[in-house]
Amino acid sequence: MAGLFITMEGPDGSGKSTQIALLKQYLEKKGYETVLSREPGGTAISEKIRDVILDRENAEMGYRTEALLYAAARAQLVEEVILPALDAGKAVICDRFVDSSAVYQGIGRSLGIEEVYRINEYAIRGIMPDVTFLLDLDAAEGLRRKRNQAELDRMESESQAFHEAVAEGYRMLARKYPDRIKRIDGSASIAEIHEQIIRELP
Ligand code: TMP
Repeated sequence: MAGLFITMEGPDGSGKSTQIALLKQYLEKKGYETVLSREPGGTAISEKIRDVILDRENAEMGYRTEALLYAAARAQLVEEVILPALDAGKAVICDRFVDSSAVYQGIGRSLGIEEVYRINEYAIRGIMPDVTFLLDLDAAEGLRRKRNQAELDRMESESQAFHEAVAEGYRMLARKYPDRIKRIDGSASIAEIHEQIIRELP
């Protein structure tokens, strides 16, 4: 497998989409054929699972069900998009991946990080990012940005305490895996963040 697998992580509203678009341009200039994807989603089946997960009417969804649905959406994305692209030597930039489950389900929902990575092993078949950028932003600031954009979905509607636990969980994960996860100050300017991402590319 010769491709480059990059994931972008961070609390809701941390500016991932903007940075992904800039990074794609940069990689294409460098000659990489680049594939963009997002989680949950990125394939027809995974987008349907996304709708189920984020539907505010599904208020009774159990945390284990939620974790397994994210893993199922991920399994389809790995099989249909990520593996073939990496095998073909392309760069894949994914908006969220298994670290989102570790933090949102493992910490936010208290299922435990190790347990969540374990159920995801089956879905991701050993595929881990070459590098992960964590756009670290205060949870309240991220939610403020989101509220200005659209109605909040089922996850975004969680309590402030939930989102603070997620933001702190990300910092903890970055300390645990410093070689792979690069923490970046998400309150810096768009250009500054982009520069730092480029400096940290493998
Ligand atoms: P998005 O708004 O970045 O598209 O992500 C959808 C929501 O799903 C967001 O609130 C984060 C959450 N999420 C998880 O809880 N677990 C996961 O594994 C993933 C990929 C996302």
